Amino acid sequence: MTAPRTPILLDCDPGHDDAIALLLALASPELDLLGVTTVAGNQTVEKTTANALRVLEFVDRADVPVAAGADRPLARELVVAAYVHGESGLDGSSLPPPQGAAVEQHAVDFLAEAIRGSDRPVTLVPVGPLTNVALLLARHPDAAGAVERIVLMGGSIAEGNVTPAAEFNIWADPEAAWRVFRSRLPVTMIGLDVTHKALMTDAHADRLRASGRAGRLVAELYDFFAGFHRETYGFEGAPIHDAVAVAHVLRPGLVETLPRHVDVDCESRLCRGRTVVDLWRRTGEEPNADVGVGIDAEAFLELLCDRIASL
Ligand code: BDR
Ligand code: CA
Repeated sequence: MTAPRTPILLDCDPGHDDAIALLLALASPELDLLGVTTVAGNQTVEKTTANALRVLEFVDRADVPVAAGADRPLARELVVAAYVHGESGLDGSSLPPPQGAAVEQHAVDFLAEAIRGSDRPVTLVPVGPLTNVALLLARHPDAAGAVERIVLMGGSIAEGNVTPAAEFNIWADPEAAWRVFRSRLPVTMIGLDVTHKALMTDAHADRLRASGRAGRLVAELYDFFAGFHRETYGFEGAPIHDAVAVAHVLRPGLVETLPRHVDVDCESRLCRGRTVVDLWRRTGEEPNADVGVGIDAEAFLELLCDRIASL
């Protein structure tokens, strides 16, 4: 008997690693991708929505609905990450413009309807700023409360990437992240502590380039993304951040997690969006998240390459 597939909703801002995370979800029989919602983050929501459609159409999966969501953070100005992902959000790829369009429904209402309509509890996988998820909590608390869990890419215990103190997704909309960590829902945080330990390398990209169309697309995305990481961090490769969150859902145990309390700094100038993780249990606060602290990097990269090559 085959195990039932885990229904997931991917909330994203493609973005190179978002696009690869989406392809990994599509390639994984353990997952049932109910839909893709988009948010402003790496680029404007118009561009992230177009990019989600472009990726789905490229692999003939236009049947997966895309719903466009928040066009700006809850309380901050939108600052996109063109310096990482380029003007299109997916620079370096040769994807054509989308033929189709997003559904009429706003992402937040789409998420609520998909959660309510699923016969099994849904796992929500947000891999961009948490604006849509915070709005879901506020507008549809019943649906939000019915999710199996939230496995998000964002935050960090010890390092930042957009500032010395903060990771981009949390920094971009700290008030939204604060609400998600306060939600009392089961949250898993896949942060930079984990994603920076599992770099895709040129050797993985060469293997993918030789594997077929989807592999060539991922290699193109990698080439651009790795260029940024080489120049900025001196990395010999690129972290495929968002794909780690998807991989953790389909391969439990891939990421080692610890139950810890996480708060988000929405107050300070220097530490805007820092996820303050109580690693050594100093506050006496009850844990509100399972925080990623380690990863079997080789297993992750094998899984990623095998699955993409199978598309
Ligand atoms: C996160 O920020 C974005 O640039 C990536 O898509 C990822 O979700 C990493 O900090
Ligand atoms: Ca992202």
